[in-house]
Amino acid sequence: MKDLFGQALLDYHNGNYTEDIITETNISDKDSLPLPYLFRNFDNMPKLEQEALNSCKGNILDVGCGSGCHSLYLQKKGFTVKAIDISKGAIEVAKQRGVHVCEVKALIDETHTFDTILLLMNGTGIFEELSQVSKYLTHLKSLLKPNGQILIDSSDIKYMYTDEDGGYWMDMNSNYYGELDYFLSYKGEKEDPMKWLYLDFDTLKMACETIGLNCALVLEGDHFDYLARLS
Ligand SMILES: C[S@@+](CC[C@H](N)C(=O)[O-])C[C@H]1O[C@@H](n2cnc3c(N)ncnc32)[C@H](O)[C@@H]1O
Repeated sequence: MKDLFGQALLDYHNGNYTEDIITETNISDKDSLPLPYLFRNFDNMPKLEQEALNSCKGNILDVGCGSGCHSLYLQKKGFTVKAIDISKGAIEVAKQRGVHVCEVKALIDETHTFDTILLLMNGTGIFEELSQVSKYLTHLKSLLKPNGQILIDSSDIKYMYTDEDGGYWMDMNSNYYGELDYFLSYKGEKEDPMKWLYLDFDTLKMACETIGLNCALVLEGDHFDYLARLS
């Protein structure tokens, strides 16, 4: 991984904001991911994220923390937060912005236990593909303190497969429709291709039930997105 995402966060944080990240997937054209959005404050967060932050309790793990926007809000509210991310640049930025406990670490390598685990901005993306959902959910469950909760958001992206006539063009013989190949570029450089998973609520709920996690729908967003609480 070249960590172009982290490089972009560092540039923005250091006042060198000249362009946005460009994203593309195997089913969608190029789109820009505005860097200021990755530094959003509570008022500029989507309702689902605000609801997640308002539902936090106890000591918290912020998984894939990015610039630390959620961790910083929670810290200011008096919570103890640990933030992890696989991006060195992201952790450097989170640290410089004042996140007290942050570490370059993949979710699968975390071993401590928490009252709340947050995975926000399509939190299921980190699972990468449907075949890994059980492994990740089992691991997340092992990181929960008694009565702990996992707050995670995602979207049902079935709508991305509709054509102009409103019909679906999904290939029923291919993999789960929420498994995307994700391409990111920044300042003309291309990141190594990534897998990124969007999971519809029913599939998430089914996967949770098979490993003994309760999955409740907390809130639906404006565009097929939702926040779920796993406990
Ligand atoms: C879409 S960004 C969201 C960042 C932040 N949560 C936000 O809402 O602004 C996803 C983040 O997850 C991180 N990430 C991806 N895979 C990860 C993994 N296996 N463990 C921890 N972090 C991961 C990425 O480096 C990136 O910072």
